[in-house]
Amino acid sequence: VGYVGPSAGTKSLDVVMEGLARLEYRGYDSAGVALVTGDDVFTEKRAGKLVNLRDALAADDVPDAVTGIGHTRWATHGGPTDGNAHPHRGGKDGKLALVHNGIIENFHALRNELLEQGVEFRSETDTEVAAHLVAAAYERTGDLTDAMRAVVNRLEGAFTLLAVHVDCPERIVAARRNSPLVVGLGDGENFLGSDVAAFIGYTRRALELDQDQIVTITPDGYEVIGFDGTPADGRTYEITWDAAAAEKGGYATFMEKEINEQPAAVRDTLLGRTDENGRLVLDDMRISEEELSQIHRIYIVACGTAAYAGMTAKYAIEHWTRIPVEVALAHEFRYCDPIVDERTLVVSISQSGETMDTLMAVKHARSLGAKTLAICNTHGSTIPRESDAVLYLHAGPEIAVASTKAFLGMIAACYVLGLYLAQLRGETYADDAKQVMAELHGIPDKIQALLDDTERVKEIAFFMADTRSVLFLGRNVGYPIAMEGALKLKELAYIHAEGFAAGELKHGPIALIEPGQPVFIVVPGPDTPHDLHKKVVSNIQEIRARGARTLVIAEEGDEDVVPFADEVIRVPQASPLLEPLLTVVPLQVFALHLSTAKGLDVDQPRNLAKSVTVE
Ligand code: G6P
Repeated sequence: VGYVGPSAGTKSLDVVMEGLARLEYRGYDSAGVALVTGDDVFTEKRAGKLVNLRDALAADDVPDAVTGIGHTRWATHGGPTDGNAHPHRGGKDGKLALVHNGIIENFHALRNELLEQGVEFRSETDTEVAAHLVAAAYERTGDLTDAMRAVVNRLEGAFTLLAVHVDCPERIVAARRNSPLVVGLGDGENFLGSDVAAFIGYTRRALELDQDQIVTITPDGYEVIGFDGTPADGRTYEITWDAAAAEKGGYATFMEKEINEQPAAVRDTLLGRTDENGRLVLDDMRISEEELSQIHRIYIVACGTAAYAGMTAKYAIEHWTRIPVEVALAHEFRYCDPIVDERTLVVSISQSGETMDTLMAVKHARSLGAKTLAICNTHGSTIPRESDAVLYLHAGPEIAVASTKAFLGMIAACYVLGLYLAQLRGETYADDAKQVMAELHGIPDKIQALLDDTERVKEIAFFMADTRSVLFLGRNVGYPIAMEGALKLKELAYIHAEGFAAGELKHGPIALIEPGQPVFIVVPGPDTPHDLHKKVVSNIQEIRARGARTLVIAEEGDEDVVPFADEVIRVPQASPLLEPLLTVVPLQVFALHLSTAKGLDVDQPRNLAKSVTVE
């Protein structure tokens, strides 16, 4: 976060701390601020969550300042200690302060070079190298922007850098390469943030930067240049959501709020997807219909929860379009030898639009000649801008680290894409797109019905607070949901949890079943093709016979499961491919309450970060 304002006072500290609180979900190993006063730079930094920094500042004699920068960290180089927290000071007398997101990959070589020159390092971070280099370049050039430009051209890797210097107290110079940075434009004050949430309480006007650009902000203006020194404009835009959307609004946690926003998230994802003739349309489609109709292979690349949305989508897209779909974890796709040509569509899925692994996969796909389409929740983020086409979720800001409403939005968006492609190709195999869309439009009410009745799931979670291991089973579209249920539990409750394809059970995992082992089973509706319902009911019997405690998620009216279930959690009826939009909800609610029962931090689980902008 960065702020330059009109007059010396406490506002810069207030704005920076408020911004850090809104961005804390991005990383929370440590936090720090630097304030530029008339003749000094004041810094304070602390390991741990933002509250530690806040307490330290309360005990400090904090000077008035016009300019401030701040940072919350997700440690890469150097553990989460006070000393490794940002900002880092540069230069002999520490006149420069700098914060950094990303990884400077050639930092060893640069550090050795600086050590040879007699520079003393105070931390183990890659960032401190940049602080010393910019400070030294400033000594030579006397201009902070020129100094930043000289240094960024020597750095390899991904970075957003913000620097302030005692000699120019009303100025912040920032640079970005493959890491997020937006400018907030105020009246006589300007802001910087990793995303607009940082300054949403102060302005709705923002400036989007391109890769490899440097922006210099002062209270009265800004200037953008490329890393090669060429002046650039940047694009200004209005932020459409307000500060309230990034606040808890009466819920105890963001996650609880976001789970409860899921009906609206799915509704908003589906909004405006059909034209007056009932044909599907996509937002920002820069691939011609001709090219799209030639597509003969689809790759879906994503990480974490987004990858499970992709796995779910595979079943639907293949069914509707008959185009083979392969789902790959983005970091695996990037470093294998994928079979990709110009008739391949690579669909990336990312809530943040900033996940470095996914971004690198998209760039790799483009370099191989593929068409790229991003399914994303964050406007103006990097992945959509690096792609040929975008389908935005419109699910609103997701703050809790564990993804919930974006997951449902992703599935809905993938389904819209699948139906769009089926329509475009006039696929004989395609179900009637209009009919599926009509059913999709009915899903939000069904999610609402589920959310109105979560008491039993909550009770089960509270009784299971001491559980050490939970298994999840599903088949077909229920399989990725089982894995997502397990992931939610790992992330939130730190419980060993595994999701399996129910058919795979007998090939190994069944050995894990011992008396009392809790197992969630996602049961497909009774009318699912290939008798899948019967097969899953048999799987339930197999594990029950070995003593498992069966927690069954089944459609309303499905009585076949009752004799073999220790608990039945009901979900409204839906067509088989749409069931995941419902069956995942109780699993999210379960993880939320189990985490709460264990007294854990639901919104910011240990070791995680919401957007992982390093590879
Ligand atoms: C991180 C988060 C996960 C998330 C994943 C992908 O690992 O902790 O919750 O699913 O990133 O994030 P994205 O923004 O690309 O959807």
